[in-house]
Amino acid sequence: MIQDKAQKEDAMVVFSPSGKRGRFPISTPVLSAARSLGVDVDSVCGGRAICGRCQVLVSEGEFAKHNIVSRTTNLSPRGEAEQRFVLKRGLGGNRRLSCQATLQADVVIDVPASSQVHQQVVRKPHEAHDIDINPVVHAYFVEVAQPDMRIPSGDLQRLYEALKNEWQLDSLSCELHVIQTLQGSLREGDRQVTVAVRNAEHIVAVWPGFTEHLYGVAVDVGSTTIAAHLCDLTSGEVLGSAGKMNPQIRFGEDLMSRVSYIMMNPGGEADLIGTVRKAISELVEEVSAQARIEPIDVVEMTVVGNPIMQHLVLGINPVELGTAPFALANDAAVDVLAADIGIAINPGGHVYGLPCIAGHVGADCAGVLLAEAPYDRDEVSLIVDIGTNAEILVGNRDRLLAASSPTGPAFEGAQISSGQRAAPGAIERVRIDRETLDPRFKVIGCDLWSDDPLFAERAAAPGITGICGSGIIEVVAEMYLAGIIDQNGRISGDGCSRSPRIIKDGRTFAYVLHDGQPVIQILQNDVRAVQLAKAALYAGARLLMKRFGVDKVDRVRLAGAFGAHIDGKYAMVLGLIPDCDVEQVSSAGNAAGTGARIALLDRRARPHIEAQVRQIEKVETAVAEGFQNHFVAAMAIPHQTDSFDELAKVVELPANKEVQPTGGRKRRAR
Ligand code: FES
Repeated sequence: MIQDKAQKEDAMVVFSPSGKRGRFPISTPVLSAARSLGVDVDSVCGGRAICGRCQVLVSEGEFAKHNIVSRTTNLSPRGEAEQRFVLKRGLGGNRRLSCQATLQADVVIDVPASSQVHQQVVRKPHEAHDIDINPVVHAYFVEVAQPDMRIPSGDLQRLYEALKNEWQLDSLSCELHVIQTLQGSLREGDRQVTVAVRNAEHIVAVWPGFTEHLYGVAVDVGSTTIAAHLCDLTSGEVLGSAGKMNPQIRFGEDLMSRVSYIMMNPGGEADLIGTVRKAISELVEEVSAQARIEPIDVVEMTVVGNPIMQHLVLGINPVELGTAPFALANDAAVDVLAADIGIAINPGGHVYGLPCIAGHVGADCAGVLLAEAPYDRDEVSLIVDIGTNAEILVGNRDRLLAASSPTGPAFEGAQISSGQRAAPGAIERVRIDRETLDPRFKVIGCDLWSDDPLFAERAAAPGITGICGSGIIEVVAEMYLAGIIDQNGRISGDGCSRSPRIIKDGRTFAYVLHDGQPVIQILQNDVRAVQLAKAALYAGARLLMKRFGVDKVDRVRLAGAFGAHIDGKYAMVLGLIPDCDVEQVSSAGNAAGTGARIALLDRRARPHIEAQVRQIEKVETAVAEGFQNHFVAAMAIPHQTDSFDELAKVVELPANKEVQPTGGRKRRAR
């Protein structure tokens, strides 16, 4: 028979979902029982019924397995402190503060996810897995002893003493700014303060009274855009996000022209360094305003970026990365005071920069690696982050390889006659009728296809201004599928008799995609620029696959803002990526930014990614044997020799004709 209230001196408590259990003397606080069993229950205020982080729930009912009849009355009734908390902040349902409720009889206690120190943030569907919350900075509430003339010590020492006694934090240190503001905080908080402690060893900030939330910002510094996400370090929730164009663009569109600016203007690195830091600080202000906090409330930041951006944020001249052998000043992770690199968050806040992988494979790729975790899988993944340099990862739990390949700015709209960045008015989707060769398309800012009767009206606002990267991929792929271009990428003059959309353009031909204002044409040179870009990426991927020892990968993940908009099927028709089950080609979203967020929220992710990056095999495509051959073969659409059997299951590919190698053209220098 199941025992009801045990007439004993101790009580059995079972915690769910951990299943940990043990016997404790009657009147033991539930939080103490949890602690001694190693059950994960949070607390900031040290059991003073202030923070509300320690909430638990009694699971009511008969638990035959544990021989327990569990009732809410098996805990002590709410005392004064808990009542005060309920009045002030409320306690949902039958929740109790585990620091206040004591064991009166056998009971089953449920610890909700929100009360667990290491809770998880459920990530978006396209993201690889949930994020564990275990930030590097924690808040501790303490009451600091009053000064005593008989014990002549400083208030900082009294603060250390309180943190040691209440939270077992030993060997603490702090920067001068903490000492400068400490006595003011102690006075204002009537000796009660909340202390932000980093890595259980360094005091970041001291606030008067009880402060519940700590904030951090994850930053992704791209050469075109910079994005920042403000996170609650306790819940992992993203409270604000903002992005802006990288203002360094005025020193050069692409990375290499910015490095040239430094080479040609002695001391010019200071301009680029100051510009990017200012932009990051402005983004911190913007996301802080969204969450109604101040930048000074931000106690931690993580940064990912390509090697040149990572160097500039840290104040390192990146000229060595401009020429072979592309030497990084440092490839390890960095952990510096934000104030030391001129970024305006809390003066005690730190910036953690993820490690760079190689001269052209940056901390942004380390972020992608952390977010995608291909090292946790048996299947072989190909992960590409497409920018002016494509960063490529191939591997699984046994082995991982990384490289970058110089795709150039074609997919960002540069080097394409009607190309533009992805912005309202840009053509992003294209279909071409196989018979009439008439196109229909979609522009960013309008949901309708261009052959919809309402299109003209709805697209009037964004207009039709050019073609962006995903549109470029689709239009060239569709031109190939419709027979407008052959496998060599040549626009054939034969098409002139098939459609007035194929027109003569000097000694070559062009395809008129939009005959309006402006006229949007795809010129032969545009197709060549796309071929060069896609061949660079494909060749890099094939090189890594060959080194890994596979002809096919099991899955392809397209990372980055551009990757998120590419249709995997068209990427394959073009031969941007190797053949793969089309169902297994997907967007990884902004994986670099997600990696920065993971490193912000989970301290264990930092040594983890540092170890992974050390193990990764770096391949330098510029000197890799066989790269040039892969590149030449990849100039054909989709490829000179590689088969696309998986793609052929879902797309009717034109019959292969004899392909002339287009190897006379060297790939561009980085
Ligand atoms: S530990 Fe803070 S309210 Fe219980």
